[in-house]
Amino acid sequence: MCRLDELGFGFVLTRVGVTTRMVPLNDLRKQYEELASEIDSAVSKVLHSGWYVLGEQTLAFEEEFAAFCGSGVGCVAVANGTDALELVLRSVGVDAGTEVITAANAGGYTSTACMAIGATPVYADVDEAALGLSPACVATALSDRTRAVVVTHLYGIVGDIQAVKSVVPAGVSVIEDCSQAHGGRGAGGRVGTLGDAAAFSFYPTKNLGAAGDGGAIVSKAPLILETARRLRQYGWVRRNEACLTNGRNSRLDELQAAVLRVKLPHLDRWNARRHAVAVRWRESLGDRLSFVQPSSTRPTQDVAHLCVARHAERDRICASLRDRGVQTAVHFPIPDHQQTAFAASSRCAGSLAVAETACAEVFSLPCFPQLDDRELDIAIAALGDLV
Ligand SMILES: Cc1ncc(COP(=O)(O)O)c(C=O)c1O
Repeated sequence: MCRLDELGFGFVLTRVGVTTRMVPLNDLRKQYEELASEIDSAVSKVLHSGWYVLGEQTLAFEEEFAAFCGSGVGCVAVANGTDALELVLRSVGVDAGTEVITAANAGGYTSTACMAIGATPVYADVDEAALGLSPACVATALSDRTRAVVVTHLYGIVGDIQAVKSVVPAGVSVIEDCSQAHGGRGAGGRVGTLGDAAAFSFYPTKNLGAAGDGGAIVSKAPLILETARRLRQYGWVRRNEACLTNGRNSRLDELQAAVLRVKLPHLDRWNARRHAVAVRWRESLGDRLSFVQPSSTRPTQDVAHLCVARHAERDRICASLRDRGVQTAVHFPIPDHQQTAFAASSRCAGSLAVAETACAEVFSLPCFPQLDDRELDIAIAALGDLV
C-alpha cells in the first residue's frame, strides 16, 4: 500500500537532471530530530536495562495512554493495529460464522482481521461528506449474525458513534478504529472512549507513531481488556497456563513503548498543527476543489491524520503534482468488496456507490506536524495551478 512513499524520503529527479527536495507527504526524520535527544536516551535506557518485552516501559505506556484517552479507561498494548482489531473483535465475542459491519473504503484492515477470525465483513455505505460509515446504512446491514460494527475515524475525522449506537441492538458491539485519529474528540470525549472498545495502530506515520510497529486496545470494560490481555500472550491466564484458544504472541516491545512515551506529551500540539495545515489547504482551494471534511453540524475535534481532496481526474492531478515536486498518495484506491482477498468471503449490504466513487477520486496531500509554511505554500500553489 505504497507505504515507502509515505515515509517521505521524497527527492525527485527533475527533467534537467537536478535533484530537488519534494514537498513530502510525511517526514519522519524531521519528527525524530525534533525529539532526538529524549528518544535516544529513552532507547538507550531500555537497551541497558536488559528487559525488552512486557516490562516497565510497556506498563507505563499503557497507563499513560489510557489516562490520555480518558478517565476509567484501560489499555492493552499489542504488536500492531491489525492485531488490535482482531483481538478486540475476538474480545467482544466475534467468532467464526458471525458478521461484522464496516465500511469498504477504509483500507481493508477490519476485513483482514475478520478473515483471520473466520467472521464475515458486511460492507455498508458511507456518508458523502466525511466518508465515514453511514448510520442509516448500518441499520440496513444488520442481521441476526451481526456481532459488531467497526467505525473507522477515517483521515482523523471523528465518526458519529452515537448515531451508530442508536441503530444497533443490544448485544452488537460498536468498535472504534482509531488508527487515524489518536487524540480526536467527539461528543462525550476522546476517540477510544466513545464506543464499547477501540483499536489503535502506532505505525510510524500515524498521529502517534512508534519507530516500528505497534498497536493498542482501549476500553472501559474490564472483561474486554482482560480477554485481550490474555489473547495477546498465548491465551495465558498466568505464566504457562493457557485458558483461551486463539491466543497468540502480539506484544508491544519495550523499545517501541519507550519511544511512544516520549512522543505522547506532544500529540495534542502535533494534532493542532495537522489541523491548521488542513484548514490552510481548505481555505486556499476549497472554492475550486472538494475536500473530505468533518460535518459542520456535529461538534468534533478533527485531528487531520490526512488532508484528503477529491477530483474525478485524480490520477492526472497526482501525476502533475509529482512533476511539480509535490508528493501525494491515495487512501485507499480499491474498495474492500473489490479486493480479491475479501470478495468471496464478505457481503455487501446494498449499494456501495459512495464508497466506490470515493476510492476513484480521493487523494491525500502533504499534511503533517513538521511541514513548514514554505513547503505548504509551494504545495498549495502547485495544486492551485491545476484546478
Ligand atoms: C484505519 C486503519 N486501521 C488499521 C490499520 C492497521 O494498522 P497496522 O498497520 O499497525 O497493522 C491502519 C494502518 O495502517 C489504518 O490506517
